[in-house]
Amino acid sequence: MRDITIALAKGRLADKAMDLFERIGIHCEEMKDKHSRKLIFVSEDLGMRFFLAKASDVPTYVEYGAADLGIVGKDTILEEGRKLYEVLDLKMGACRMCICGPETARERLKHHELIRVATKYPHIAKDYFYNKKYQTVEIIKLNGSIELAPIVGLSDVIVDIVETGSTLRENGLVVLEEVCGLSARMVVNQVSMKRENERITRIIKGLQEILREEGNV
Ligand code: PRP
Repeated sequence: MRDITIALAKGRLADKAMDLFERIGIHCEEMKDKHSRKLIFVSEDLGMRFFLAKASDVPTYVEYGAADLGIVGKDTILEEGRKLYEVLDLKMGACRMCICGPETARERLKHHELIRVATKYPHIAKDYFYNKKYQTVEIIKLNGSIELAPIVGLSDVIVDIVETGSTLRENGLVVLEEVCGLSARMVVNQVSMKRENERITRIIKGLQEILREEGNV
């Protein structure tokens, strides 16, 4: 029997996902050692392997079959646009993808003026403005601290994740429009879904059961 390989987006999401897995009997003690520099963790008795990757790389590992399953945010799935099956909403890490900016940008946005949009998510921004709003905009790709852009005059608005809203509040920005809701999802390689259907379905059903018990589904 070959191992099932699971790719987890590094960080908070990975810890939460491992807690969920543990509740359906899938555990990996080795992964709990926060000082370890190991990249891959094997659970021989379960026939499973886990690895931590940069969130934006998780869909790539899954599309190519280097991982059978992945746990990653919907934002990354949308941005990467990889060929994979999204099979489960884990309801963790819930937040929103929003168009944000200073209140003064609201009118310019409404009147479809040619505005500048800074974001870590150029594909999501492009899809929203071009395909949903039929609005031509100039998109500027940034890699972090996106809220800075409208403050220092790099852009009129931003497309970014809003969780508690405190980053916006503390920087005098507001949500102008909502693009979509986000949360952690389980994704599956398309070939693995057929080849390892039984084992993968068992994992999905187990997690669904836990989510249902918690009133999350
Ligand atoms: C994310 C996001 C916002 C912030 C939103 O940034 O890009 O900046 O969190 O959270 P809040 O609504 O609870 O304030 P992250 O901390 O991931 O870092 P980044 O700025 O480098 O993207």
